[in-house]
Amino acid sequence: MENLDSIVAEARSAFASVTQLADLEQVKARYLGKAGLMTAQMKQLASLPAEERPAAGSRINQARDEIAGALEARRQALRDEALARQLAAEALDVTLPGRGRGTGGLHPVTLARSRIEALFSSIGFAVAEGPEIETDFYNFTALNIPENHPARAMHDTFYVDDGSLLRTHTSPVQIHYMESHQPPLRIIAPGRVYRVDSDATHSPMFHQIEGLWIDEDVSFAHLKGVVQDFLQQFFERDDLSVRFRPSFFPFTEPSAEIDMSWGDGWLEIGGCGMVHPEVLHHVRVDPERYQGFAFGMGLERLAMLRYGVNDLRQFFAGDLRFLKQFN
Ligand code: FA5
Ligand code: MG
Repeated sequence: MENLDSIVAEARSAFASVTQLADLEQVKARYLGKAGLMTAQMKQLASLPAEERPAAGSRINQARDEIAGALEARRQALRDEALARQLAAEALDVTLPGRGRGTGGLHPVTLARSRIEALFSSIGFAVAEGPEIETDFYNFTALNIPENHPARAMHDTFYVDDGSLLRTHTSPVQIHYMESHQPPLRIIAPGRVYRVDSDATHSPMFHQIEGLWIDEDVSFAHLKGVVQDFLQQFFERDDLSVRFRPSFFPFTEPSAEIDMSWGDGWLEIGGCGMVHPEVLHHVRVDPERYQGFAFGMGLERLAMLRYGVNDLRQFFAGDLRFLKQFN
């Protein structure tokens, strides 16, 4: 019995000297385990005279409770320390500014498109749009390209199903617009178009800017003037080398393709011509009274030339090192 106080004191200091939770359980066994000191004390009760046993028993219980209390206190202290250490190690300063907060920028194709829209708006062209999924009728037939016409083979078309396709050019917007507007009219129609095509100057998805001017006295001279003037403004140069090369489109007559000098040669930037009377018939405009011109320019081709890009597919590769140069 005289031992009890010193056992309690010894247990307290043993617990205090433990620094790891796992070690604490081992030390606990020495005092509170089945083969521990307190169990041994209990066993000795049997050797006491019966009348002394209750008092001695309650003394032992009290000592055991004190040890258990000290153990629990130490356990809690070690847990708190471990938690505090973990929090300190994992601390982060939420008031620090974030890293790499880059500013976004407009895509070069968007930049070029905005410039083009602004330039044509300034000379009285409205901006129109049409659907990217078209019917065969709008993409071909209404543009004087009947079924089985060899000109359909010039467009490597993505078909959606029997009746519809991804438009191969923006020219169907001419038809949509003239179905709902009477001449005189003057529009551009920028938008995405699709063809089975891919090399340095061709992408399967690209943009065209359609132009259409219909009035009573519009000539090929107006077409040349508008296109040439636009290109000078777009490239901010008076000494551009542009050529109109005779060509063929079923929906214009006469027709030409527009080339600009590129490296040692020429790069085609668009097609154009005087709107074919057959197209005007389709939209119930009288070709005896009204004529006009149309053009379709490749937006990426213009952007390539303006920004000195030598592979058109760069515009759609999603490479930030490329795109950042336009910020
Ligand atoms: C046409 O698409 C005619 N609709 C243009 C037109 C409109 C003529 C109105 C007359 C009147 P073309 O297939 O040549 O024409 O294409 C026009 C321009 O789109 C080309 O000159 C070129 O600049 C661009 N282009 C064509 N295919 C691609 C492609 N795969 N990737 C990028 N640009 C292209
Ligand atoms: Mg062409």
